[in-house]
Amino acid sequence: ELLAARAALGVGGASGGSQAGGGTLALVPTMGALHEGHRSLIRLARERADHVAVSVFVNPLQFGPHEDFSRYPRTFDADLAVCAAEGAGLVFAPAAGQMYLPDRQVGVSSGQMGTVAEGAFRPGHFDGVLTIVLKLFNLVQPDVAVFGQKDAQQLAMIRRMVADLDVPVTIVGAPTVREPDGLALSSRNRYLSPADRVTALALSAALREGARHTRPKDILHAAHAVLDEAARADPPLLLDYLSLVDPATFTAVADDHRGEAVLAVAAKVGATRLIDNAVLTLS
Ligand code: PAJ
Repeated sequence: ELLAARAALGVGGASGGSQAGGGTLALVPTMGALHEGHRSLIRLARERADHVAVSVFVNPLQFGPHEDFSRYPRTFDADLAVCAAEGAGLVFAPAAGQMYLPDRQVGVSSGQMGTVAEGAFRPGHFDGVLTIVLKLFNLVQPDVAVFGQKDAQQLAMIRRMVADLDVPVTIVGAPTVREPDGLALSSRNRYLSPADRVTALALSAALREGARHTRPKDILHAAHAVLDEAARADPPLLLDYLSLVDPATFTAVADDHRGEAVLAVAAKVGATRLIDNAVLTLS
């Protein structure tokens, strides 16, 4: 069915790729509840390929036992309208029971890199992400796949998987889309009460304050000052981590680090867990 839809789009033969003739295909993997951030990915995908496919699948494998899988927002009709409006020719939305065999055994291991930063707070999360993303690549066979910088470690891990496993797809990163006040768009933002939302602004504000400095120690100090203040707000911000890491490995950079670094933050506000990051150039 999927291959038929792919062929109907005019994408090259089942072997995939532009060399088969008929145009290139870009995939935008999502879990639905599409917002302006997802829209920007679809638009970038249209610039990078002749046809765009969007996948919508809330992947149970990447949620921990106490995470929000069952209450993750599901807005499929609105998602379809967004995909149509942005010019996606194919929407792949498998049913919950359709993606994994009941007796499945084999998955992708995210290695050491999957245990640091976000991975330290979400054991198994990146194994689940990489497994579904590789399955989506195999099923849809895109030439290009677009991922947001909003999930910086996810993007870095997907680049790592593609390099380590020789996956024949070009990965494109897309900048983070924000509200005018700085809050990074997220499907989970809809759970923030007005008071939560005020506290949540501390994530992006901390990144901005950190970005005013160039030494890791000063960057972290300035960002922590903003987060400490938000920890005393009502409702309080509960910090999971603030780290300044190497963009490729997500391990902490040394204090004499030069070049690019990612300032990454994760925190809970009320019942909602939020992440954000900024790419800094240290001179
Ligand atoms: P989801 O959270 O739906 O995000 C889908 C894509 O949108 C990801 O590449 C994410 O980085 C990007 N995105 C989210 N918010 C964004 C923003 N404010 N600006 C720009 N891009 C943004 O990430 C996932 O789904 C899943 O882990 C998935 C890759 C689909 C695997 O299940």
